[in-house]
Amino acid sequence: MKKVLNGKNDNGTGRGSIEKCIGGNDSEKNQEVEGMKVLVLLGSRNPEGQTATAARAMLDGVREAGGDGELVFLPDLNLERCRQCGNTGYGTCKSDGKCVIEDDFAAVVEKLKKADAAVFATPVYFYDLSESMRSFLDRLRRLTRNENGKKGIAGKKVVSVCVAGGGGGGAPTCSAIFERIFTYLEFDLVDTIPVRRQNLVMKKSALKETGRLLAAGTL
Ligand SMILES: Cc1cc2nc3c(=O)[nH]c(=O)nc-3n(C[C@H](O)[C@H](O)[C@H](O)COP(=O)(O)O)c2cc1C
Repeated sequence: MKKVLNGKNDNGTGRGSIEKCIGGNDSEKNQEVEGMKVLVLLGSRNPEGQTATAARAMLDGVREAGGDGELVFLPDLNLERCRQCGNTGYGTCKSDGKCVIEDDFAAVVEKLKKADAAVFATPVYFYDLSESMRSFLDRLRRLTRNENGKKGIAGKKVVSVCVAGGGGGGAPTCSAIFERIFTYLEFDLVDTIPVRRQNLVMKKSALKETGRLLAAGTL
């Protein structure tokens, strides 16, 4: 039996340590369910923002299909950028499948490895990924240059969600950036959902249905 935690934290902020960056609002907490574990990694710092709204629609679908959904806010974690260490710049990622930096990265990677499927949801910044999403994926991509680092990552079913919440441009470009990074990670990219401010309400039903399919293992 597993917990579904969708939404805000106990403290209502969605901020803090890795544990505190896992969402769950009061009405949604502590619902015990069986099912596929779907991890949603969120590159927005705003628990009430458009990207979080899109992520929650996905998690609603996961829960409806009996899955176990978990939401992690990346910007509030301690996630350093890659130090490009070693003589070659590849460092221990390539030799050992491990990053030398002691921060929250390894804990998020463990969560990802344990999940049956993952959703990568980012606000669109400059037609690109958010900085927190970029740092996490930059480091993850390096780990997978090593066979040990690749274990539990390669073959994982993933969905990308890019939310262009300003003028509305850049979600398709951002989706293509995700796709290129996911190729290195050898993820099984099962869907790509570009969203713009102008169609978020309409896309919520597609996001929810995608969550259902992910949790049912039929996507
Ligand atoms: C640095 C920066 C760059 C941005 N670039 C774009 C952009 O290229 N296209 C767009 O539609 N919105 C852009 N925006 C607006 C964000 O996409 C919007 O604020 C975001 O969806 C809000 O997400 P949130 O509500 O989850 O925080 C940008 C915002 C920031 C802060």
